[in-house]
Amino acid sequence: MAGIAIDGPAGAGKSTIAKKVAKELDFVYVDTGALYRAIAHYLVTNKIDIEKDEVLSKACEEITVAIEYENSVQQVYLNGENVTPYLRTEETGNMASKSSAKAPVRAALLDLQRDMAKQYNVVMDGRDIGTNVLPDAEVKIYLTASSKERAGRRYKELVEKGEKSDFDRIEADIIERDERDMNRAIAPLKQAEDAVLVDSSDMGIDEVVDTILSIVRDRIQ
Ligand code: DC
Repeated sequence: MAGIAIDGPAGAGKSTIAKKVAKELDFVYVDTGALYRAIAHYLVTNKIDIEKDEVLSKACEEITVAIEYENSVQQVYLNGENVTPYLRTEETGNMASKSSAKAPVRAALLDLQRDMAKQYNVVMDGRDIGTNVLPDAEVKIYLTASSKERAGRRYKELVEKGEKSDFDRIEADIIERDERDMNRAIAPLKQAEDAVLVDSSDMGIDEVVDTILSIVRDRIQ
């Protein structure tokens, strides 16, 4: 089995790019952020105080997360219920950013991610895939873009959906999330030593996909 790790900050376009790369290679795409979001959904719904270690550990023991694919689209199951439709809200994202810094949450998801890579050829995106989850991945990409560019993409997305939004607030949120993801004690977001840096600030989606595919083909095909 082969593994391609794509790590990088929020809003760098990882999921869009990783999905397309997986499709081209006929690999399985694993969105690990959705797993952290599933746990966050549980923590929000059950009003768990994540700052209380014992409470959080107990909650994590009660959680089983599983991945299924429907028409090749990842579905995340939380204790047997498909929670995929609830995962993309701001509230869940903000909780995921905080709770993913906690040891019991990370421990609860490690084996699931590694098992996926044992069973399938995967393109897996996240924050610590190249550094921690799949240290032996055949290809590691660190995909980033400036905070202005990432905020601009998010702003455009919201405007297209007809939602009111404020560019400066979006950029401030992105910078805050970067800070949290990069500075946490456990499995912080950072470029693995053997990862290739791809800065997509001035690149279109297809250009990024082609760049990654050519790196992959150099290494594994
Ligand atoms: O990629 P995303 O926005 O769906 O991720 C949600 C949060 O989960 C993000 O703030 C950081 C965390 N995360 C993580 O810590 N490790 C991963 N491998 C993936 C996501």
